[in-house]
Amino acid sequence: MKGVILAGGNGTRLIPFTRVINKHLLPVGPYPMIYWPIRRLRDAGINDILIITNKKQLSSFIDILGFGENQDVRIQYQIQENEGGGIADALMNAKSFIDHGKFIALLGDNVFEDSLTPYIKAFQEQKEGARIFLKELKDPTRYGVPLIDPTTKKIISIIEKPADPPSFYCVTGIYMYDQEVFNIIENIYPSSRNELEITDVNNLYIKQGLLHYDVLKGWWIDAGTHESLYKAQRYVCANQFGEEIN
Ligand code: G1P
Repeated sequence: MKGVILAGGNGTRLIPFTRVINKHLLPVGPYPMIYWPIRRLRDAGINDILIITNKKQLSSFIDILGFGENQDVRIQYQIQENEGGGIADALMNAKSFIDHGKFIALLGDNVFEDSLTPYIKAFQEQKEGARIFLKELKDPTRYGVPLIDPTTKKIISIIEKPADPPSFYCVTGIYMYDQEVFNIIENIYPSSRNELEITDVNNLYIKQGLLHYDVLKGWWIDAGTHESLYKAQRYVCANQFGEEIN
């Protein structure tokens, strides 16, 4: 299976740093943020990785990560022409890299504890469709939030950044898709924030009855704000340097 890491966007929530550096290259512990999703893929046996990013920051990525030689992975890069076009728009750039078969896509600012190995196994056993990963949070309002049927435990729909969340779960930036995702992206329209939303893609999989999910067991952080970047630093440093988290 191949892996895709989405590392474009404008990083507006991390201004002023992101005026000069792509947010995925900011430090989290002793490495750039994007190192952590790369490592999660590598540890799960995914060595063929595409990083999708903005044109003006591509050279910084190559300076820092090279082509993966130091991490035992093969990294290719692809430019997202439409910066700020949204996650689904960015993902479309992976079509020729994926070529055929199922794949995993990670948001480059998602730093998390769980190993991907059992989830990838579950997805491989799944005949078709998509698989997403939820995390229970006190306040999921800045994420995609699933409405879950209390009896069947199936996701009925996902709402992007709801003011009044229908559950305490958020949809994390870990996504597994079959090839059909590229046809689905061609059939969605920009949202009110003028982005092609990954939530709309996932809702179309739900309509077809083809969206499955797991709940992450360990900590998970979207390090895209100052507050959450600080939290990611603490969690990773605790792990790396043995500081206790309480
Ligand atoms: C994006 C997705 C959202 C998801 C989040 C996870 O939000 O749109 O559904 O919950 O990533 O990190 P964004 O980072 O674009 O605000």
